[in-house]
Amino acid sequence: MSIEVFDTKEVQELLKAAANLGSQDGSARAKEITHRLLSDLFKAIDELDMTPDEIWAGVTYFNKLGQDGEAALLAAGLGLEKYLDIRMDAEDREADIHGGTPRTIEGPLYVAGAPVRDGVSKIDLDPDADAGPLIIRGTVTGANGKPVANAVVECWHANSKGFYSHFDPTGAQSDFNLRGAVRTGADGTYEFRTLMPVGYGCPPHGATQQLLNALARHGNRPAHVHFFATSENHRKLTTQINIEGDPLIWDDFAYATREELVPHVVEKTGGTALGLKSDAYKEIVFDIQLTPLVQGKDNQIVHRPRAAAAA
Ligand SMILES: [Fe+2]
Repeated sequence: MSIEVFDTKEVQELLKAAANLGSQDGSARAKEITHRLLSDLFKAIDELDMTPDEIWAGVTYFNKLGQDGEAALLAAGLGLEKYLDIRMDAEDREADIHGGTPRTIEGPLYVAGAPVRDGVSKIDLDPDADAGPLIIRGTVTGANGKPVANAVVECWHANSKGFYSHFDPTGAQSDFNLRGAVRTGADGTYEFRTLMPVGYGCPPHGATQQLLNALARHGNRPAHVHFFATSENHRKLTTQINIEGDPLIWDDFAYATREELVPHVVEKTGGTALGLKSDAYKEIVFDIQLTPLVQGKDNQIVHRPRAAAAA
């Protein structure tokens, strides 16, 4: 049985009424988007002949998604966040903006407020017996290839259990463990002394994993480190690096991997003198190239609710 009522006058008027298109009040943009999304949903219900049981399962799912606080996680898992990157990349090409370190998704686990250090920051505040020391360092340059002074590089990553501080369900980490911010000097360099992260998995009983299970998809990410790089005269960069060798690099449930963002991991010694927990350590050099402002503005700055804490 296929029932198609979408094009009827009754349904079209219902959609207009639901979005309050007949009124001058309210937000014109909110009305436009509501009308479009609701229309697309109604059309899909007709075309896929979705049953009331399926619709109510979906409504119940949204309630669980909110209760679990996982809407942003689901946005990453369903490729919505990647899609926004694809659109911004296309916008750059259209504007003839090339070069610069590639962007990739922010994810939902940034926390604002990490203390800003000059040049170097040791960010492993809590002990983690299963994680070896890691140095991530590099130089921030501008479009002309010259070092950028006074840029702030922020990074955040998971511990050896795949948990992020501030969001750790075990409560084992201080707020800014494995989160840091470094201001570059005249040479443009930054350095984080930290511990090797492991990959992250969606909460196994959360709404995101529930949907992924229905799609026969896993909810895991390869080991990675997130970055923001900001500078007054450049556009903000949101990116990540993957830890070379992780088997999930090309099977990331959040689609964040990019070829240019898998720097080499090099074995080094001399860590004790640097204050690391062992002499042998791993090092990743990740140079960051920023792109210039467009007509004096960051044309791609993203405003979204972000967690914040005081260090
Ligand atoms: Fe992450």
